[in-house]
Amino acid sequence: MAGLIPQYFIDDLLTRVDIVDIVDSSVALKKAGRDFKACCPFHDEKTPSFTVSQNKQFYHCFGCGAHGTAISFLMDYSGLDFIEAVEELASRAGVEVPREEGDFSKTKDNSELYELMELVVRHFCQQLCESPEAHRAVDYLKQRGLSGEIAKEFELGFAPPGWDILLNALGTSDAAKQRLALIGMTLEKDNGGYYDRFRDRIIFPIRDQRGRAIGFGGRVFDDSLPKYLNSPETPIFHKGRELYGLFQARHQLKDMERMYIVEGYMDVLALAQHGIRNVVASLGTAVTENHLERLFRVCPQIIFCFDGDSAGQKAAWRSMEIALPLLKEGRQIHFMFMPEGEDPDTYVQKHGRKKFEDVNNYVPLSDYLIEKFKQETQLDSREGMGQLVDGIVPLVGKLPAGALRELLAKDIARLADMNIDSLKNLIDQKQTPVKKTQAQHLVSTSQYKKESKNHVADAIRLLLHNPELGMTIEPNTLSDIETQGVGFLRELLTLINQQPEISCAGILEHWRDSKYAERLNKLSIEDSLLTEPEAIKVELFEIIEKIKYDYQKQLRNKNLQKLDIKNPKKARSIIGLSPASNSEE
Ligand code: GTP
Ligand code: MN
Repeated sequence: MAGLIPQYFIDDLLTRVDIVDIVDSSVALKKAGRDFKACCPFHDEKTPSFTVSQNKQFYHCFGCGAHGTAISFLMDYSGLDFIEAVEELASRAGVEVPREEGDFSKTKDNSELYELMELVVRHFCQQLCESPEAHRAVDYLKQRGLSGEIAKEFELGFAPPGWDILLNALGTSDAAKQRLALIGMTLEKDNGGYYDRFRDRIIFPIRDQRGRAIGFGGRVFDDSLPKYLNSPETPIFHKGRELYGLFQARHQLKDMERMYIVEGYMDVLALAQHGIRNVVASLGTAVTENHLERLFRVCPQIIFCFDGDSAGQKAAWRSMEIALPLLKEGRQIHFMFMPEGEDPDTYVQKHGRKKFEDVNNYVPLSDYLIEKFKQETQLDSREGMGQLVDGIVPLVGKLPAGALRELLAKDIARLADMNIDSLKNLIDQKQTPVKKTQAQHLVSTSQYKKESKNHVADAIRLLLHNPELGMTIEPNTLSDIETQGVGFLRELLTLINQQPEISCAGILEHWRDSKYAERLNKLSIEDSLLTEPEAIKVELFEIIEKIKYDYQKQLRNKNLQKLDIKNPKKARSIIGLSPASNSEE
């Protein structure tokens, strides 16, 4: 096979094709306002909630959350893999797919990238011992209750503060620098050169099931944001496929009866610290079918651990929908809800291993399903029972035929006071094959969107459509930044923090008669499609980081000019830049 498909080609390709044509050739679309609509091909529904935006070249289903680009549609709907999807689009656009020349095109198996990854893991571990600032990281880990053994086993590391520490350590040639960027460890500056992605963070290396290092997570030491930073999607790292801790769990345990799925790195580590080794975490994304299939290959029972809050309830519901079609005979799924305000990390520290592993905590998926409907429908009326049946039948229809489906059908028939055979008929009718959505997490929304230069406007737009995210950002984080528009962004964040319930419309009303009104109205209609909440959150954090970084860079350049330099080296050292880093322009 030839080399990688260059990113510029994919960006360009997406501007040449129209997602409306692509989708319409498989699913008939109807124009609805600015967008196009259809009944969703990814889940069962009677009224169309699948929306395709020509403007954004994006689809989104408000019913099941499926979303993505033309490429992800071809992957999810037609079952193509990424390369095939790109090739299909290229052939429709009448263009040839180019392949990247150079070092990487010959390494079919990415082995150079994996080797470099190992060096990066070692670098961060070394910094945890040797950096003059390492004591902060070590203290932090201790304070979170982690021992040296666990830190060592999970190869925890430290990225000291600084823009080019990793870059200087491992970017020893141009090719090495390019490779560092390719594996997501450095970012390219607007005007050439690179800088470290992970700075001043605890580092969690992520290994795939075979033990190869493929990506990293990084946590700040204090309350600053973003709290966690993950490697981006790279040729070797695909968030929707990987599970943190799976390699270590399999290494520790031969035959596993069950596996816990938790939300965070720290949950995996805290549980390991307490001797619970059969734990994995998804990487800040919702759990995918691929994750579950992977786990069912190593054990028959999966236990989801969710926070007790409403976000946890929502996540549980979504996970249940994903899990249903996979529940073949012999497989089991249970849910476990943490008490309000706790996560597995704090829970196990407070209550210990025995309590965490107590089987009385586990709710079987089928109980959860029925209980949920019982809570939400009024079973003392015919209407209520009808609602129950209408709601639950499509879900039960997703289960593979087998004992569980039979038993559930029996329970529901009894609850709804209905003849079992008529209920089974209903279920069978509903049992349309559901298309796979393997690309949903493979092709992240941000990966193929156009790079915008106006980060402030991007942040405001995201906040307008998702005001609740403003609660996760402290307005003061932008207090020293004088970039145009940041003053308003701060005001917006302050407003949201004062009025957490405020809606998009509320924000527009708030500034109705001000000079900002027109601009805000424009931004509010620019983006009507929601994507996955976690993805939006991450995007917002990244944008805020970029605003800060750009401003610092701008400030430094201004200072440089002011100094009216005869001796640029000296000038750089006056403003606190190392003379060697003169790529930092
Ligand atoms: P601690 O505060 O360290 O205990 O972390 P936690 O694991 O309790 O954090 P939380 O429940 O907030 O997040 C769970 C997981 O979501 C993390 O392990 C990350 O994978 C992801 N996550 C949380 N915050 C962020 C963020 O700001 N950016 C990104 N990219 N991911 C995040
Ligand atoms: Mn936590």
